[in-house]
Amino acid sequence: MERLAVGIHADGEALLKAFPGAVALCDLEGDTLIVNNALIVLTGAHPGGMVAKHVTELFAREFRPAIDEALAKVAMGHRVKDIRAGCLTSHGTTIPVSLALSLLEPAEGGTQLAVVSIRDSTREEQLAGELNRTQSESESLLAELDEAYQQLRRAQDEQVRKERLSVSGELAASVAHEIRNPLAVIGMSIQYLHSKLSPGHAFRQCTSAIVKKVKQLDEITTQLIDYGRPRKLELEARDLHRNLNQVLCLAKSKCLAQQVKIIKRFDRGPSKVICDHHLMNQVFTNLVMNALQAMSKRGVLTVETQFDLQKNQAVIHIGDTGCGIPPSVQAQLCKPFFTTKHNGTGLGLAISHRIIDHHHGSLTYTSKTRGRQRGTTFTIKIPITPPEEKSPTG
Ligand SMILES: Nc1ncnc2c1ncn2[C@@H]1O[C@H](COP(=O)(O)OP(=O)(O)OP(=O)(O)O)[C@@H](O)[C@H]1O
Ligand SMILES: [Mg+2]
Repeated sequence: MERLAVGIHADGEALLKAFPGAVALCDLEGDTLIVNNALIVLTGAHPGGMVAKHVTELFAREFRPAIDEALAKVAMGHRVKDIRAGCLTSHGTTIPVSLALSLLEPAEGGTQLAVVSIRDSTREEQLAGELNRTQSESESLLAELDEAYQQLRRAQDEQVRKERLSVSGELAASVAHEIRNPLAVIGMSIQYLHSKLSPGHAFRQCTSAIVKKVKQLDEITTQLIDYGRPRKLELEARDLHRNLNQVLCLAKSKCLAQQVKIIKRFDRGPSKVICDHHLMNQVFTNLVMNALQAMSKRGVLTVETQFDLQKNQAVIHIGDTGCGIPPSVQAQLCKPFFTTKHNGTGLGLAISHRIIDHHHGSLTYTSKTRGRQRGTTFTIKIPITPPEEKSPTG
């Protein structure tokens, strides 16, 4: 049988050339001896252009070191599979391929050769890319779904909380309403009796204590009615800095007595907001009073504002350097009648929450009970123009 210069029989070469997979035959230095038809079809190159070249030249530069390394392994008798490479074509493009290299043992007297089999892995790469895309798409869909679920749960919890508060508030308001009239009669009568007693009278101390307590009860019933049956908002464009200044002015003497420093960081831009400013005053007063009550002696009361017309949002922070709110208290906060104070009604935050809710806003807080950041900051966010109002603020 005729043996070719490369050391394989002529019918072996014919077989190799007709083989459906792309194959190159080279010596162990990597010089190409034969390329088969399938490889010519794959690369579109002229067969003569490939023979005698180094086999790595069939591939893009960055893959050549790996192929050289594989050739060295083949020379030691190993078989190397699944080398990813980019095969160069005559059109200047690169086709993703997978290579397998093995040693071709010669018939006696012949030289050892390496068979480089080249498989087009374009489809595989495409599928892998699609799989990756689908995987990351489904991951982000899952994340979105999870976020939507969490939002739904939060909204549901909030709805339940609001309904519960509205029922208990309505009940409390009805009771308070019934108490108010008899209380007014008691108040007026006791004041009349008190005025009739001579200054040194033995009963004067009692009547004075009753007058004080009736006044306190009247304040509580008013608060309960405010909480249970909130009145309709009386909206008007209002400079909120004016309100904050008023509240801080009233708190000034208490701050002086407690050695509390006031820091104002007011936004320099327009600070008008469409709101019920009497109710907003109530919220600011509640929060400032709570802050002062949390700082028994010395501290800093910080009031900061930001008005973002583009976001249609006014943000007011009221911060203190007081005792902070421990986790056990945080769990109860904003529940009506929850208080840790001797004389507190526990309605301040519940009422503030309601007022801010009615302004389509939010009331949140951050708090620390120890460390350099000790203290509490309440944050009010309300729209500058409420959603149902069309015209912007002046
Ligand atoms: N800035 C704050 N620092 C520490 N604790 C606070 C602060 N604000 C509120 N709290 C806690 O939240 C509780 C509830 O506050 P809330 O204003 O609703 O009622 P209160 O202040 O106790 O009574 P009042 O009805 O007189 O306002 C307080 O008793 C206090 O324990
Ligand atoms: Mg309070």
